[in-house]
Amino acid sequence: MRFSTLVSAAVLAPLACLAAPASDAQGSALATGDGWLYKRENLCSLKAPPALCQPNSSVTVDETALRAYKFYRAFVVDGDPRTMFSLIDSTYKQHHAGYADGPGAIWSLFCNGRKIGSESGTAWCFDAATNMSYAQYSTTDRWRWVDGCVHEHWDQNESIPKSKCYKLPAGTS
Ligand SMILES: *[C@@H]1O[C@H](CO)[C@@H](O)[C@H](O)[C@H]1NC(C)=O
Ligand SMILES: *[C@@H]1O[C@H](CO)[C@@H](O)[C@H](O)[C@H]1NC(C)=O
Ligand SMILES: *[C@@H]1O[C@H](CO)[C@@H](O)[C@H](O)[C@H]1NC(C)=O
Repeated sequence: MRFSTLVSAAVLAPLACLAAPASDAQGSALATGDGWLYKRENLCSLKAPPALCQPNSSVTVDETALRAYKFYRAFVVDGDPRTMFSLIDSTYKQHHAGYADGPGAIWSLFCNGRKIGSESGTAWCFDAATNMSYAQYSTTDRWRWVDGCVHEHWDQNESIPKSKCYKLPAGTS
């Protein structure tokens, strides 16, 4: 995420939390085949992510590609902090000056389920050769996946390697 994005999110998040009705805390599944896309929910009443990703060395590259798409959807399109953080491991090594490592350091920026953009106006990619995924919106983020989880993050001078993006099976995106 770009620095200005982080700052505005940090400023807006507490306001959104106060304004959100209690009933907004429950997300509901969208009617997709897999049932794993969720509407936005505001989780700012929680001091930490409800659940993180548990590293699993049996997760395949194909499964990781699907998870990378799910992560992009949760982060950019759906504004779904529960799903987003369920795909981040407890390490989350951060390569952005001023931000500490660990998912807790970014929880307050995303807990309110802010959407960043539409699927048609943004882009994502998973490069199976490097286990890196990308999300392009006003900036481009890059994440390294380890054992099925988002493990490391960069957001400076990144670009999507368009010729290397994994093609998900038809019907999953
Ligand atoms: C680890 O991943 C494999 C492959 O997806 C899965 O079959 C297995 O149930 C997972 N193990 C745990 C503990 O989640
Ligand atoms: C990518 O992850 C897979 C497991 O999902 C692993 O077998 C492979 O070695 C990793 N590739 C790189 C370049 O780290
Ligand atoms: C950004 O990427 C471009 C193209 O890969 C490269 O030429 C440039 O040196 C990079 N800049 C920084 C600050 O890393």
